Amino acid sequence: MKIAVLPGDGIGTEIVAEAVKVLNALDLKFEMETAPVGGAAYEAAGHPLPESTLKLAQEADAILFGAVGDWKYDRLDRPLRPEQAILGLRKAMGLFANFRPAICYEQLTHASSLKPELVAGLDILIIRELTGDIYFGQPRGRRIATDGHFPGAEEAFDTMRYSRPEIERIAHVAFQAAQKRSKRVTSVDKANVLETFQLWKDVMTEVGQQYPDVALDHMYVDNAAMQLVKEPKKFDVLVTGNMFGDILSDEASMLTGSIGMLPSASLNSKGQGLYEPSHGSAPDIAGKGIANPLATILSAAMMLRFSLQQPEAADRIENAVKAVLAQGLRTGDIYSEGTTKVNTVQMGDAVVKALG
Ligand code: IPM
Ligand code: MN
Repeated sequence: MKIAVLPGDGIGTEIVAEAVKVLNALDLKFEMETAPVGGAAYEAAGHPLPESTLKLAQEADAILFGAVGDWKYDRLDRPLRPEQAILGLRKAMGLFANFRPAICYEQLTHASSLKPELVAGLDILIIRELTGDIYFGQPRGRRIATDGHFPGAEEAFDTMRYSRPEIERIAHVAFQAAQKRSKRVTSVDKANVLETFQLWKDVMTEVGQQYPDVALDHMYVDNAAMQLVKEPKKFDVLVTGNMFGDILSDEASMLTGSIGMLPSASLNSKGQGLYEPSHGSAPDIAGKGIANPLATILSAAMMLRFSLQQPEAADRIENAVKAVLAQGLRTGDIYSEGTTKVNTVQMGDAVVKALG
């Protein structure tokens, strides 16, 4: 089992170290190789996604990814910005299916931004399309406007686009995921305004007819954003495009207590996967040793389940995470009165100990 380990920037190195520690504590044989990515790779090799890093990732069974980005790179042009490393990996490897489970653990119902009764038992699976939409649509750029409200002025533009096969394949992923859960899919769109999401809605409906056991409903993204904080438990599988999925998954994270709890998996059609916490590089707390490693540790569990066919090991990690929460251990982001504050390394150590 070959794992490419790409820690990246900011807290990326600290949290990935804890996930690697947990993986090494399982009695399994992994071949792990580490490579620079993001701002770290820009410093070392002049590019956020060096050829050698991409090659290592492409040849691995799975990628464990930390986070990329730092304010100090804000001045860089787009092709060199750290974020291009993760976008480039998603695109080059065709990692189109992004799973972002938002689970509120029993012990964290009071850490949620919502009233405990609204989130107790919450278990939503956000499925975000990850290689299309306005993130990658061409053309895009800057130019001098020749029409519009201010002809002659500088303008910038991006293109939102989805093809039928792109929507079909993510629709199948969502319906098949729902078959293993409560058999409900909510497709989130903006079909009342956008052509792109009119096609999205049509294709979702068509593909849905192949899954008569799954109930499909459609919701506009603005309404979905509201329903997520009003009555989040109404959702089970939520499928949406790249940009709406980016925004809604951050929103959903606050229902679970902290974005520091949210793992993710990004899969391609070959079964390869990239596993990363849903949060970013958090440069404001980098190097302080206080980041929550649980999202990354839970991402490693998803890796064992989805790409490495080790479901028992995945269960062991997930149960260990529940156990440390039950012991009352908390990093700062999920701390509340009466619990025990621990740092990044102590949290990783506690998970290792709880593996049993
Ligand atoms: C995410 C991140 C990325 C995204 C950034 C870092 C490019 O916010 O994975 O959600 O927008 O997809
Ligand atoms: Mn995001």
